[in-house]
Amino acid sequence: GRKSCDQKKSFVRADFPQGFLFGTASSAYQYEGAVKEGSRGESMWDAFARKYPERNCRSNADETVDFYHRYKEDIQRMKDINMDAFRFSISWVRILPYGKLSKGVNKEGIRFYNELIDELLANGITPLATLFHWDTPQALEEEYGGFLSENIVVDFRDFATICFEEFGDRVKLWLTINEPWVYSVGGYDAGRKAPGRASKYMNDAAKAGKSGHEAYIVSHNLLLAHAEAVEAFRSCHGNIGMAHCPLWYEPYDLACVEDNEAAERAMEFMFGWHMNPTVYGDYPEVMKKIVGKRLPSFTESQSRKLKGSFDFIGINYYSSVYAKNVAEVDPDKPFWRADQHVEWKKQNKAGKAIGAQGGVDWNLMYPQGLRKVLNYAKNKYGNPKFIITENAGHCDAYEKKKPKICELMDMKRTDYHKKHISNLHKAIYEDGVQVGGYFAWSLLDNCEWNCGYEIRYGLFYVDYENGLERYPKMSAMWFKEFLKKRDEDM
Ligand code: BG6
Repeated sequence: GRKSCDQKKSFVRADFPQGFLFGTASSAYQYEGAVKEGSRGESMWDAFARKYPERNCRSNADETVDFYHRYKEDIQRMKDINMDAFRFSISWVRILPYGKLSKGVNKEGIRFYNELIDELLANGITPLATLFHWDTPQALEEEYGGFLSENIVVDFRDFATICFEEFGDRVKLWLTINEPWVYSVGGYDAGRKAPGRASKYMNDAAKAGKSGHEAYIVSHNLLLAHAEAVEAFRSCHGNIGMAHCPLWYEPYDLACVEDNEAAERAMEFMFGWHMNPTVYGDYPEVMKKIVGKRLPSFTESQSRKLKGSFDFIGINYYSSVYAKNVAEVDPDKPFWRADQHVEWKKQNKAGKAIGAQGGVDWNLMYPQGLRKVLNYAKNKYGNPKFIITENAGHCDAYEKKKPKICELMDMKRTDYHKKHISNLHKAIYEDGVQVGGYFAWSLLDNCEWNCGYEIRYGLFYVDYENGLERYPKMSAMWFKEFLKKRDEDM
């Protein structure tokens, strides 16, 4: 093996395996804008932003960073900072405006993604396409409650099949679902994300005889939809996976058995929930035991379809936290806290903080966590292949509305990427983890789900007050230098 990059003054892309992809990530709703153009249908997030403006800092993505019109110049930006790859998502309602094949395929949507893909390839940028980054067709929400209904599985398979047929000749890397955990917990339990259903309030519904634990149902249908899409993909060449979002959990008190078990339980509830079925065909034992009847079960054929339904594991890594065992559970807490019997702590028993506080409450900088997550998954899931499909901290931007000049000098973000990439290098060369790429969230500042334009993750600054002009931040310049080709280096 090669030397760990820490032993060198600075390291470069050539220190990573041949063919390793460095890229940036994005999603359709957060980037495209132009929601009324190109015969696009309405997504659940369009409707949600309109209905609950206060939940997203009174913003919406009607225009956002206007990627729909500006993708060509943005591709030049990727190229300029020497990126190899770009992760984007395909808006379901640009392809099927009413979510269903029987209601018509939108040629304009297909044309847009064809042009985007061709432009990426013409500039030497490898595309990685996500099928579902949370923007469920609003028509399907209204018809049968979106992912609350198993009906969505067929419609998702149709959508996926069209995408593979139309784009699969040029796109060789695919993700089915982005972060099922956030979609279910955020939308159906904590309730801060679309469609904004909260189990806390649903407890009242439970008393009225309705389910108070919709997130488990939604996740079940996401998993079934994933398995169908992967089955449809098997006639194509390329690699497919799902993007998971594990935090790394350290025990609050290392010497305490219960806290060690709590950390493992938290990993299972956050990562194993959607990962385990794709490896072993079923939910983690600990979840089945605790959640009981509220956790749906797979039929034999569903379980067979799920088993091995990926070529690589997408990891979106942001943060780590201490896990403390909780014996007594508050039934009014969202289930993802209550069922697990785990409390999140920023400091351990000895008062040591896990990492520097980042831009939002849960964002703590712990770069070793990325290496630990990878080793955990390597051991647990049989040494699979990984791609880091997102990594970020919006470390510099948490003082909202900082002057542009401060945003451009994003030293903390630069440091964040540097340290995570260094840990990734160790995971590959010292621990033997197989990793094929690293995607930073995100190329541009964009419309963030909970805080709209008030927090910024981009390597490029977007001036929302002045015509959406883009400016490279220090982090972009760091990547440009780091990603220089060998020959330019000499
Ligand atoms: C990930 C998502 O959860 O985190 C991205 O896949 C998102 O789409 C990013 O932008 C940041 O999260 P948030 O909630 O701060 O927008």
